[in-house]
Amino acid sequence: PVPVVLDCDPGHDDVFAIWLAAAHPAIDLRAVTTVAGNGLLEHTTRNALIACTVAGIADVPVAAGAEGPLAGPLRPAVDIHGHDALGGPELPEPTVPLDPRPAAELTADVLLGADEPVTWIATGPLTNVALLVRERPELLERVARLVWMGGSTGRGNTTPYAEFNAWTDPEAVDVVLRSGLDVTMVGLNISHQALATRPVRERVAATGTRTGRFGAELLDYFSHAYETAQQMPDGPLHDPITVALVADPAVATTARARIDVELAGTETRGATSVDLNGTLGREPNATVALELDVDRFWHLITDAVAALA
Ligand code: BDR
Ligand code: CA
Repeated sequence: PVPVVLDCDPGHDDVFAIWLAAAHPAIDLRAVTTVAGNGLLEHTTRNALIACTVAGIADVPVAAGAEGPLAGPLRPAVDIHGHDALGGPELPEPTVPLDPRPAAELTADVLLGADEPVTWIATGPLTNVALLVRERPELLERVARLVWMGGSTGRGNTTPYAEFNAWTDPEAVDVVLRSGLDVTMVGLNISHQALATRPVRERVAATGTRTGRFGAELLDYFSHAYETAQQMPDGPLHDPITVALVADPAVATTARARIDVELAGTETRGATSVDLNGTLGREPNATVALELDVDRFWHLITDAVAALA
């Protein structure tokens, strides 16, 4: 199995990313780290511990990272995820403890302790990743690749052209794109293919596990929020596509492209410019996920939920 560190800001869809990474046999989940994004760091961290508690994941360290973006204020996605970033189900007290190390230290320990390069998956703003790039560049050779949910080849969801994770910390995206890391972007262009329709939600509930029941309540809340806030009747389960791509590369098609992020736009700060046709004549610096095998993706999700507590 591929050793993985998952950096996230749970968040409804981040919870499914944690579950898929913990359950899939092709992945060896070595650490979960949290970042502020969908909610304050205290909420995203607590929610990561709750996700592990519900699913019976007791052997993966969870550590807290950055409290806010490299520049500018944090603006949590309250309209989509609620005030504690995990609206919907009644939340149990976490029984999984928080690792005392800061996220950067835990990540460094995993990278230094692994006997092969580690795959880094990020499903929130790239703040923690950018900080490690800046502060511990010597560790990057121990990273096999970074698979990130964020950005878009087309339009945004937070402003007309910026996706939430990119918009929250554009400077971090810029640092990461210039870092030399092997980056794969899973943007809205593919994540809006992963719609948690009613039949999907019923299949998650029908797994019969505690994880499945909790997950179905998450998806019901999430879809309702999307309907109200984004006029989309079914919530797109963005984040676990990253994990799915690592566990089962056939789940999506990809292409190489040049990606740049807008830092100074008057209306477009945080927008990703994805040069799929090579019109700029620049070297590609990333891989971009394009078409999702939707059935295959939902099977991965329901299999994971069925295999957990
Ligand atoms: C991204 O923003 C967050 O609300 C989700 O968890 C996902 O990571 C989608 O734009
Ligand atoms: Ca997220």
